[in-house]
Amino acid sequence: MEKQFRIFRFDPAAGEPHYQTYTVSARPEERILDCLNKIKWEQDGSIGYRMSCAHGVCGSDGMRINGVCALACQKLVRDYADSIEITLEPLPFFKVLKDLIVDMDDFLARIESMRPYLIPADPPPEKEYLQSPEDHKKVEDVIRCILCACCTGACPVMRENPDYVGPAALVWAYRFLYDTRDGEFMTRLEKLNEPNSVWPCVNYFECTRVCPKVIPVTKSINMMKREIKKNLPNPGGE
Ligand code: SF4
Ligand code: SF4
Ligand code: FES
Repeated sequence: MEKQFRIFRFDPAAGEPHYQTYTVSARPEERILDCLNKIKWEQDGSIGYRMSCAHGVCGSDGMRINGVCALACQKLVRDYADSIEITLEPLPFFKVLKDLIVDMDDFLARIESMRPYLIPADPPPEKEYLQSPEDHKKVEDVIRCILCACCTGACPVMRENPDYVGPAALVWAYRFLYDTRDGEFMTRLEKLNEPNSVWPCVNYFECTRVCPKVIPVTKSINMMKREIKKNLPNPGGE
């Protein structure tokens, strides 16, 4: 079948943002990324977008597809069977570098602010740090995060409060808060109690809806809020 793609175009060196429409022949089971590749390789090599694994692992092709943040390699043409054309746009709230490519520096700095690494209390063991299957279960959902930024692009709070650290950073905070090998539980909790950490989240659930790795993002944020209320004297600066 013939399918139309309306693609956001922006080259800071060449002028104003605009949309450009391309028609490709695509089978229902083909991925949106396959179509984008066909457009780039056969029609217009100037389109900018990121991709690498093409199998939902690297997280590099997060974009807005018909208004919803998703990985282009995980969505199929048949998912948009009812649409006359499929619109591809960069992730919202991110600075656009070119076409569908956004600047990830600020997003990654927010994750870095959560110290997304193990800080054990005790000196390292002779071999590796062991973790029981029960302890691993506490973080097994969140370790699936591939840093695609779909959740952060989809979160309506990011639009109103750009200082909110955002759902992906909170997923990484959760990942180490509940890692039983980590020794920084209380300082991590204090960080999460800062005004632009967990508290601006108002449970829109958009992050959870779009996460391609099916991470219970909102549930994790709410669990950290409860943990703060249980352990700190001034939750939310009260
Ligand atoms: S649940 Fe919280 S983090 Fe997720 S989209 Fe809603 S406000 Fe944003
Ligand atoms: S939580 Fe999900 S949507 Fe957010 S960055 Fe990680 S994998 Fe992507
Ligand atoms: S290209 Fe790697 S996740 Fe889509």
